[in-house]
Amino acid sequence: MGEPVAFTDIYVDESIVDRVTDVLRSERYVKGPMVDQFESAFAEFCETDHAVGVASGTDAIYLALKAAGIGPGDDVLVPGHTFFASVSPVVELGANPVFVDIDPVTYTMGALDLEEKVDEADNPEAVIPVHIYGHPAEMHSIASVARKHDLALIEDCCQAHGATYQDEAVGSFGDAGCFSFYPSKNMTVAGDGGMMVTDDDDLAAEARALRNHGRNDDGEHVQLGLNHRLSELHAAVGFEQLEHIDEWNERRRDAARRYNDRLSDVSSVKVPSERSDVEHVYHLYVIHVPDRDELRETLEADDIETGIHYETPAHQHPAIQRQLDTRPSLTRTEMLTDRILSLPMHPRITEREIDRVCDAIERHYEQ
Ligand SMILES: Cc1ncc(COP(=O)(O)O)c(C=O)c1O
Repeated sequence: MGEPVAFTDIYVDESIVDRVTDVLRSERYVKGPMVDQFESAFAEFCETDHAVGVASGTDAIYLALKAAGIGPGDDVLVPGHTFFASVSPVVELGANPVFVDIDPVTYTMGALDLEEKVDEADNPEAVIPVHIYGHPAEMHSIASVARKHDLALIEDCCQAHGATYQDEAVGSFGDAGCFSFYPSKNMTVAGDGGMMVTDDDDLAAEARALRNHGRNDDGEHVQLGLNHRLSELHAAVGFEQLEHIDEWNERRRDAARRYNDRLSDVSSVKVPSERSDVEHVYHLYVIHVPDRDELRETLEADDIETGIHYETPAHQHPAIQRQLDTRPSLTRTEMLTDRILSLPMHPRITEREIDRVCDAIERHYEQ
């Protein structure tokens, strides 16, 4: 057995430690200058007018929907192939999730199925494309459906910091883009954190009020809102991590190229696709194989960590199913669940580690 290969890892350097120490010493832990600085830098990174720091990616999606006026009786188009939190905010707001199947090549929301599902929906008001695994959804077609039907377009960018579609940053296409800084993401705040970006002044102002108890600049609570704020300590980490994200994404892309080169000759393995007009940031490197559980066991026995994203599609979780009148049938999404396997991927993975994973996969299929 060789050295263990970790699924992911997290980068902390002296600049992060120094900035966190400065915040600790400042004794200013919420609503301070560090969140403002991180927001400005993140808005610039996403090429948007505003960025609103919040406590998680889930909060960013929830607040974007709420600020866009989504509530009871509204239908919100969502993919089934995603993490639960792309959908739970829709249900929390009393709206109905309407599930859309995947594009079979990129596994992102299928634009053709979206058209059909919008036509069938009673009261479509919003759509949430998810840039799953770091591959941008087909924003040209999805935005055109959103425009045609006057839907709020909320991008779930929680896995796609820095990804581009036709040379433009994800998060900048929709009414709002929502990011997570959970520790496993392409960049983190060393804890929970999130960001909503937008070009819409009113949406930004509404989200800022909603994240802070529905309070306006005069200190009045003009609407009901909870506490969804990002802390100064977390913003300090995020601000420093943002300095590195482009370089880290480039390293993830290099790692993906090496995996693709090594695995392209293994006929049982389908490597991830990348459309020619996007820049995928490989939050996850997901292969498609006929015997996923067996391959996973082989790799685990060889001390190689893997993941499954996701074993249960969003529409099949009990908490979501209870909200649905009929059980959606998403054939392509459901076919994926026992065939996908996420291989180790992070900016510091070495060529040797990638080769070790690929050698183990080759050996598995040679038997
Ligand atoms: C696609 C997707 N949407 C939403 C979220 C929720 O983000 P968070 O964990 O920061 O609430 C995540 C991350 O976990 C995610 O991967």
